[in-house]
Amino acid sequence: MKILVIGSGGREHTLVWKIGKSSLVKQIFCAPGNAGTNRLPKCENVNIKPTELDKLLAFALFKEIDLTVVGPEDPLVMGIVDLFTANGLAIVGPSQRAAELEGSKIFSKEFMLRHNIPTAEYLGDFDSCLRALAFVDGVKFPIVAKADGLAAGKGVKVCHTITEAREFIDEAMAGRKFGMAGAKILFEEFLDGEEASLLYFSDGENILPMASSQDHKPVNDNDEGLNTGGMGAYSPAPVVTPKIAEQVMRDITVPTIRGMAQEGRPYRGILYVGVMIKDGQAKVLEFNARFGDPETQVILPRLKNDIVPVLMRVATGTLKGLTLDWDPRPAVCVVMTSGGYPGPYTKGHVITGLEQAEQMGDVIITHAGTALKDGKIVTNGGRVLGVTAMDRDMLMTILAAYNAVELINWEGAHYRQDIGRKALKYLKI
Ligand code: AMP
Ligand code: GLY
Repeated sequence: MKILVIGSGGREHTLVWKIGKSSLVKQIFCAPGNAGTNRLPKCENVNIKPTELDKLLAFALFKEIDLTVVGPEDPLVMGIVDLFTANGLAIVGPSQRAAELEGSKIFSKEFMLRHNIPTAEYLGDFDSCLRALAFVDGVKFPIVAKADGLAAGKGVKVCHTITEAREFIDEAMAGRKFGMAGAKILFEEFLDGEEASLLYFSDGENILPMASSQDHKPVNDNDEGLNTGGMGAYSPAPVVTPKIAEQVMRDITVPTIRGMAQEGRPYRGILYVGVMIKDGQAKVLEFNARFGDPETQVILPRLKNDIVPVLMRVATGTLKGLTLDWDPRPAVCVVMTSGGYPGPYTKGHVITGLEQAEQMGDVIITHAGTALKDGKIVTNGGRVLGVTAMDRDMLMTILAAYNAVELINWEGAHYRQDIGRKALKYLKI
């Protein structure tokens, strides 16, 4: 088979790595990929951006691609699945109307209300700056403000004071900080607790859960500093007890897949449910219409099945009867970033120690913001790479990941020192 993977981050690197292990696969193309995907067996990078839908379609038709896997959200929300399907190509991901679950936070909030899905209380949405300002005059803080559309994970602000709320309104609506994504904003209740990510394969009817995981969004240790695309992850997340997993499936995932089908938007693809857990109860923070990054880096190495038939069955609506087999060993991914990220940073620094780190057993290095320059791998983005390790228990896995991280360096490299620490508090050690 020939597979096309769309995207260029650590998530897509992991997808290519996992797909490459399938004996069914002869060739993989990654559009546009990164310096790491190009070095993986069977894989070749293709210089097409994820948002260039027509070029991707022409490429897939010309190369007779058997299955396309979409990493990021933008092409999904732009309708890549509808376009490929109309042209007879198999593709994994929700249709444009189903991807609205991620593409519009107002749609997703109203959908949850319609189907009684537990989530933070909805305080209201606004398309007028003046009315939004008047609204925050009368509320009790903290509240959470969100841009309606896609804002690369940056369109959410927990507002502790009226000044912060006014700042958000001003930046999003008057300043168009998130472009048209912030033309409408919404406010919701602030939820306290511990976050977790629950991902599912669904063919529109049947649902297959993946192993649980937890992301680390803030840039510094102890969850301090600005939010980022994700500074690390681990799987499984002990906060997701079997009881929580069951509650999420019963109260959130099943009603979501059923509700989307009832509303004429059958959801076929990967459903990412981001939850806040408190007092044994999970509530939805967000839906994503795709694999998470960096959650994928810790979930897929634990999946024992060949992923290609699983993805094919998602795309063709034939998931029924399939079971997934998980490696009991945990996985931990530490993300290394350019100094200064998520603020301004410099690029082009030579990365050293990659080969030594790669030689360690059960360590996978996934590239994100890297490039090849004069035969050397250099930094080329904010989140530069991720180091994923697997070992017999959580403590050993954390140590293995950091042993590999310490071998890798470049000028200004930054990483959190506490990835996985939250999992340790659940273990009796
Ligand atoms: P979202 O993109 O909606 O998941 O928001 C990004 C991050 O903001 C989440 O991962 C949470 O850390 C935080 N967040 C979002 N909504 C809430 C909420 N209602 N209460 C507390 N924190 C939230
Ligand atoms: N890890 C959060 C996301 O993928 O949106």
